[in-house]
Amino acid sequence: MCEASVDGSNPVTDPLLITIDGPAGAGKTTVSRLLAEQLDYRYLDTGALYRSVAYGILINGIDFEDDAALIAHLKEFDLTTHAHKNEFRLLWKDQDITDQIRTPEISMMASVVSAKPAVRNFLLNIQREMGKDKALVCEGRDMGTVIFPQADIKFFLDADPHARACRRYKETSPKAAVTFEDISRDMLQRDQNDRQRVLSPLRPADDAIRIDCTDIDPHAVVVRMMNCIKSKVRERKTSRF
Ligand code: DC
Repeated sequence: MCEASVDGSNPVTDPLLITIDGPAGAGKTTVSRLLAEQLDYRYLDTGALYRSVAYGILINGIDFEDDAALIAHLKEFDLTTHAHKNEFRLLWKDQDITDQIRTPEISMMASVVSAKPAVRNFLLNIQREMGKDKALVCEGRDMGTVIFPQADIKFFLDADPHARACRRYKETSPKAAVTFEDISRDMLQRDQNDRQRVLSPLRPADDAIRIDCTDIDPHAVVVRMMNCIKSKVRERKTSRF
């Protein structure tokens, strides 16, 4: 376990690659942004990448079960990413789609098409390219297991399904006209898809630090993470001598 401290300063001088995996609604986005801000790192939301692919498939009416059609679509997929400390924005054909990809329909489509090898391969290089200079906090489902198995520090964030559904419900705009039951059902369906798929299923890396945030708020999670990071950095410095 990492030692307790309330010091919120950035003690980390060598750039690190930090991964945060976990299921929908566990609070990964809030925590990743806060951590990136505190460390002065960039933030990568890989869920947004899968969502943008789902958006393109829906808008263009692509039959994603047809591998040839899917591959042809991805070849022409004109995606630009902008990673900042507390924001990750996506442009598709020069149009900012960051806010448009947060609908229940796109959430479900992203979960379905993320099981396709063509989609995972297409996004693999984009993610690895962003990680090559480190100083990055990235969140997703397979960051610590598949995309960055050599990451400096890996976290797996989880919370009980009811708490996760409540969080998602609170974040949902009243205009979306969805009930708590809709959100809870979709979330469980996505959990099942994401955990049971053959390629890169959602699971903690063997060396991930697991944090259950059912009863703790994002700021407290970040304090815990910072303490783990500081311990790791100290351990490394000691082992150099
Ligand atoms: O994190 P999110 O809810 O925005 O992700 C949407 C979907 O994208 C999720 O249900 C599964 C997929 N995804 C994935 O397969 N691998 C990732 N690294 C990130 C997301």
